[in-house]
Amino acid sequence: MSNDYAKFIENQISELRATVGKATAINALSGGVDSSVVTALGHRALGSQLKTVFVDNALMREGEPQRVVKAFADLGIPVELVDAREEFLSALAGVTDPEKKRQAITDTFYKTVFGRLVRQSGAKFLLHGTILTDIEETVAGIKRQHNILTQLGIKPEEAYGYSVLEPLKTLRKDGVRAVARELGLPKTMTERIPFPGPALATRIVGEVTRERLTTVRAATTIVEEELAACGAFQYMAVLLNDMATGIRDNRREYGQIVVVRCVESVDAREAGVTRLPWEKLERICRRIVEIEGVNRCLYDLTPKPPATIEYV
Ligand code: XMP
Repeated sequence: MSNDYAKFIENQISELRATVGKATAINALSGGVDSSVVTALGHRALGSQLKTVFVDNALMREGEPQRVVKAFADLGIPVELVDAREEFLSALAGVTDPEKKRQAITDTFYKTVFGRLVRQSGAKFLLHGTILTDIEETVAGIKRQHNILTQLGIKPEEAYGYSVLEPLKTLRKDGVRAVARELGLPKTMTERIPFPGPALATRIVGEVTRERLTTVRAATTIVEEELAACGAFQYMAVLLNDMATGIRDNRREYGQIVVVRCVESVDAREAGVTRLPWEKLERICRRIVEIEGVNRCLYDLTPKPPATIEYV
């Protein structure tokens, strides 16, 4: 099997070299395993002809942009950190509908921020970490993934002025991880739990604001610390768009509600809920209700289907 992945890498490298020729390519790294593999593969194929950017969209986890850029610098791959926080937050202001939120993020990313970066770089090609599951779910109309353009009939050459190359489009998540291992990427990348392109925006039901991001970010840090060793496919904290009555220091308060979700899955198409130990859940709950403004913590027992893994 390992040989198959070595062959896959070899083929993709030749194909990327043949397609890009002497032109410049660009790719956006989010730090997830998909975009990490594309970045490593792309640099192996194209060297300095590939420019990699990390766009800070204000929706990432605590310290994530700096951590990802440093991890790639350690591999000898330069990544430029682009601060686009204000642009994303203003595009998301007042937007509550899930699909409109995704649309606002897609448009801000491709049309505004990335469009500008591509124009500045003169790149003719965009390398993208689309995988097979993204294509299938988008085509099936289950969810509009952040990273699908061609499959939706949007022609990036006409809309944005560049061609999209998707070297991972025949692989599912387990295949991408195998390629990552074959490329020699560190365990922090190859075994990293999936994290969606629209980032914490998929974990805020309702409007995404600076304050609500601070809350969900704090809860995310707690859940990720507590469950790092649990071996589950994915775990997360979600901020609901509702308030509950509570009591603290003998005073009635009206607080926010955080859901903890932890699931088992092979490729994210279906998922079952992890039977976490009760003590672990209680500990997570105790820590989460210490976050300012949060007074309730729930554990989600719903498999996929009928739920999806993310909330937005
Ligand atoms: P759902 O929520 O559809 O998620 O059950 C399935 C898997 O895909 C991830 N996910 C995304 N990844 N862009 C991504 O790159 C997205 O827009 C997106 N939405 C969901 C999710 O975290 C889960 O692993």
